[in-house]
Amino acid sequence: MKVEGQTRRQFCKGTCSAAAIAALGSAIAACGGGSSPTGATGGSFSSLPQVSGTGTSGSITVTVTGTALASVGGLALVRASVGDVLVARTGEAAFTALSSICTHETCAITAYSGATFVCPCHGSQFDASGKVLVGPARTSLRQYTTAFANDVLTITA
Ligand code: FES
Repeated sequence: MKVEGQTRRQFCKGTCSAAAIAALGSAIAACGGGSSPTGATGGSFSSLPQVSGTGTSGSITVTVTGTALASVGGLALVRASVGDVLVARTGEAAFTALSSICTHETCAITAYSGATFVCPCHGSQFDASGKVLVGPARTSLRQYTTAFANDVLTITA
């Protein structure tokens, strides 16, 4: 899908130009190109709510109040100049942040179903810790470090 491809390119542009984010392992592999998967699986899923983050050297900060991450159980695609990151709020002060690049064929993960992140290309599903629940992906999503204080979530590579 064109929009998903643009999202991935935007992510790669951001991640490849930021030295700190360049350390994001598998996400870098996505910047080298790869195939462009087509065709959704037809499963039932919704687009992730998008939340704006502020990208700085090696980190992204997000003010949580008023966003999809305001409540425990919230999921979002955090978008920042340095790249996009999947975020799940797993507790009052607990979050997980994951690479948004699918480990199957590098599509941008932009969807969810319940508490599960869903890749729209071939339907791989990942839990809030990035573990594969449903393939074809076989490798977990890369998890980033999070810190939460004063309503601000900080994500670091
Ligand atoms: S790229 Fe195939 S499931 Fe994500």
